[in-house]
Amino acid sequence: IPVEPFDLVVFGGTGDLAQRKILPALFRRFCGGQWPEDVLVLGAARKKLDDDGYRALVAGWLKEHAPDRSADCAALDRFLSRVGYVPVEAQGDEGWPELAARLSRDRVRAFYFSVGPRLFGALAERIEAHGMASDKTRIVVEKPFGHDLESARALNATLAGHFRERQIYRIDHYLGKETVQNLMAVRFGNMLFEPLWNSQYVDHIQITVAETVGVDGRESYYDRAGAMRDMVQNHLMQLLCLIAMEPPAKFDPDAVRDEKLKVIRALDPVLPHHIVRGQYVGVDGQPGYREVVGNPRSSTESYIALRAHISNWRWAGTPFYLRTGKRLVARSSVINVMFKDAPHSIFGADAGRHANVLSIRLQPNEGITLKVTIKEPGQGGMRLVDVPLDMSFAEALGPENQVSPDAYERLIMDVVRGNQTLFMRGDEVEAAWAWTDPIIAGWESSGDVPKPYDCGSTGPGDAELLMKRDGRNWQGIK
Ligand code: BG6
Repeated sequence: IPVEPFDLVVFGGTGDLAQRKILPALFRRFCGGQWPEDVLVLGAARKKLDDDGYRALVAGWLKEHAPDRSADCAALDRFLSRVGYVPVEAQGDEGWPELAARLSRDRVRAFYFSVGPRLFGALAERIEAHGMASDKTRIVVEKPFGHDLESARALNATLAGHFRERQIYRIDHYLGKETVQNLMAVRFGNMLFEPLWNSQYVDHIQITVAETVGVDGRESYYDRAGAMRDMVQNHLMQLLCLIAMEPPAKFDPDAVRDEKLKVIRALDPVLPHHIVRGQYVGVDGQPGYREVVGNPRSSTESYIALRAHISNWRWAGTPFYLRTGKRLVARSSVINVMFKDAPHSIFGADAGRHANVLSIRLQPNEGITLKVTIKEPGQGGMRLVDVPLDMSFAEALGPENQVSPDAYERLIMDVVRGNQTLFMRGDEVEAAWAWTDPIIAGWESSGDVPKPYDCGSTGPGDAELLMKRDGRNWQGIK
């Protein structure tokens, strides 16, 4: 669906995110025919460049990060003709009048703050001071949105000093992933699952986001953040919300975000013995976490597993196990809904225990598998066996849907459309920090040291124990 004409300014226009994600996403949507003719994308940063100099840089980034599309030279040239650059001093006056002069009146104007949060206030102030703030102005901010509750509140207050909440788009790129949106489609588009979606039928839920990448290239940020702030406070909590929330009355920004917020607010504090922190160590000559970050005493976690409880009518007594880590054996994001055993086995004790598992694979190989129990073929009596009912979305939807669009494509177009459904509201972010802050404070005050785990493994052994103590097991990562 084409969007209306817009101007987009990317502060931090020469930075890593602009190179890898923002410009490639814009280019792909342009190639997808979603742009009207007269769109303007302006990079803005400190570097002294003119339009042509920036276009040459952007062409190089697109060749690297959108190679399939940028092979079409005509499309690339047409895209680049809509791209420009203004050198801007975020905390000074330089460049602002020139920037204001290039923007059109009376159309959607989005400012992407692809810069550190310490500059948010300076940028917001200058956008307003130079007459660029109107009702159609939107600002986009990236995670990390704060380092804790206090800093998140301060950021929210800074932004609220210049813009209304409906103009602020806080990105959690997980919400832009096709398969994450699919969680809502699966839950609320089918009659099959929802009646069983509660503690009466669900034994527990496992949410795993396993990564093979390490922290190379982002050492100083990561060593201050760790897996809890980098992944759990945002991405895993968003997944938890989408899995656990009540059906919103409609698919509308506040209806959805109100329901997510209720989930976060119903989370119990996590007990210290329900958390396992890990840090990877090198094997076979590969560097471990501490070598990579250059901090031999670092006690930052690159892995975390925890057991959470949601104290509400639907989920009382159903644990949610969350885990995420770097340099693990495989890249795999999957949610496993582990159903209870049938209440009585008519086949006797020999038939063993069989429970249904609904696995929702977010990446890679997006799809759904439902483990069901059937009779083992043959004449040897009534023996049972589990088989997967497996559906890969790419296979089911046909070749034109083999490649999911990048999350940023969807999210940036939603900014232009003015749809905040897939963005975090200020109170949601604060509630998430209010839940994670005491957990972090707990291990900081106790001097907790993360458990070592080998690169390429499934994480520290204690994470297995966390489950085993409850008589449960993690589903395999691969
Ligand atoms: C980012 C984290 O938000 O998400 C990274 O800062 C992490 O540490 C990344 O690697 C994971 O995103 P994806 O889309 O690769 O699952």
